[in-house]
Amino acid sequence: MSSSTPSPLERKTASRRRFLNYLAASPVFAGMAHSALAASGGLSPTDASPFSIEEGDLRIWDNELRNAAIKSPAEALDLFDIELAARRAVAPAHWGFMTTGTDANMTLRANRADFQKVGLVPRRMRGPIATTDSLKTTILGQQFDSPIFACPCGGAKAFDNNGPEALAKATAATNNLQMLAIGGLEDAAKATGGKIPWAQFYCQPDWDTNAKAFKKAEDVGAKVLVLTIDIIGMRKVATAERLRRSDGRKCIECHDTPMGGGNGTSAILAMKHDYDWDFIRRVKDTTKMKLVLKGIMSPEDGALAVKYGVDGVFVSNHGGRSEDFGVSTISMLPEVVKAVNGKAAVLLDGGIRRGVDVAKAMAMGATAVGIGRPWHWGLGSFGEAGVRRVFELLRTETLFALHQAGAATLKDLSPAMIRRL
Ligand SMILES: Cc1cc2nc3c(=O)[nH]c(=O)nc-3n(C[C@H](O)[C@H](O)[C@H](O)COP(=O)(O)O)c2cc1C
Repeated sequence: MSSSTPSPLERKTASRRRFLNYLAASPVFAGMAHSALAASGGLSPTDASPFSIEEGDLRIWDNELRNAAIKSPAEALDLFDIELAARRAVAPAHWGFMTTGTDANMTLRANRADFQKVGLVPRRMRGPIATTDSLKTTILGQQFDSPIFACPCGGAKAFDNNGPEALAKATAATNNLQMLAIGGLEDAAKATGGKIPWAQFYCQPDWDTNAKAFKKAEDVGAKVLVLTIDIIGMRKVATAERLRRSDGRKCIECHDTPMGGGNGTSAILAMKHDYDWDFIRRVKDTTKMKLVLKGIMSPEDGALAVKYGVDGVFVSNHGGRSEDFGVSTISMLPEVVKAVNGKAAVLLDGGIRRGVDVAKAMAMGATAVGIGRPWHWGLGSFGEAGVRRVFELLRTETLFALHQAGAATLKDLSPAMIRRL
């Protein structure tokens, strides 16, 4: 390369400067440009959020405008505005725990990027258009106002001192499904006047511990048990560890539970999960709750889950936090849906950030879709109001997607509308 050829970084910087100068000269955008310029010494979302993959030329424009960080949930135009507000408010170590994938974060990136490899073909002239009622969804016999649910995650407290309660209240107020670790069910029920989340659990080698946990969930009133089966052994969360090293404080200084399923201070997280399908049979024989298996990624396991009488197959790779094999959830959804063949609900999470993602997953056969990191962004930026805004934005965007797809109901979204790009 000749020395006069600008590097990609120089090109990016020059183009950014051109853009800011253009904005500063424009009467329409002058105010925004000044705040963008003022903030440009700080974090740019591209740098701060390497995993928010919004591709295309518009990305630079988009990110510069986003530098004028929002001051209230209502100002958020999409989830990435909320992500940026949270990124600015939350300590790096906490951010790392939430944002990390495993190893090189390939699966994490694939979860998001693969939504952009799926297209939805709109239909026209189809008569009545969708209303907010069109988003109402029944998931394993329970009615919700949308097919979007809050995934079970251990990070609520680190993102808001009142995080678990705020999350429970926000999902209850918007009548969305929440999945929550069994230990938190009672408090969530108290905070919401009796709404009981689905009960998430990691099975333990000691059977009595399992049986006691299932009994506890039943006593609180949980109707559905979600067994997470995708953390099988050891994994390395390098991004979390790097961000932690950049932040000298200890978790315990701002919240009382250590993060990370271990001591929260290591890149290596360990869990021993050498269970087989007989274990699932035993779980089925032990509890009256419906059973969902969270972490299915193959059609073979989808078919086995059905064979063993599971009620819900949850296509998930833990948001890219289990193996780093680069296989996204959305890419595996059609095969799993085919293997399940209508005999169980099919749930999906991983990379859902916009209403069009929800619409695509529903068209490909999902019964409902979950979000993990986005509710942390809501909590970290504006607490309960932030989480509500996350759900509100996703719902509104999903409704708009239904309108433009020519779908009066979620059921009108069909695999025939899907194209692989
Ligand atoms: C900070 C964090 C903690 C998590 N903890 C759990 C957990 O305790 N149990 C579980 O089943 N999944 C856990 N997950 C995975 C989520 O339930 C979910 O599968 C994932 O976040 C969905 O992907 P998304 O973040 O791209 O939306 C966690 C995810 C995050 C980001």
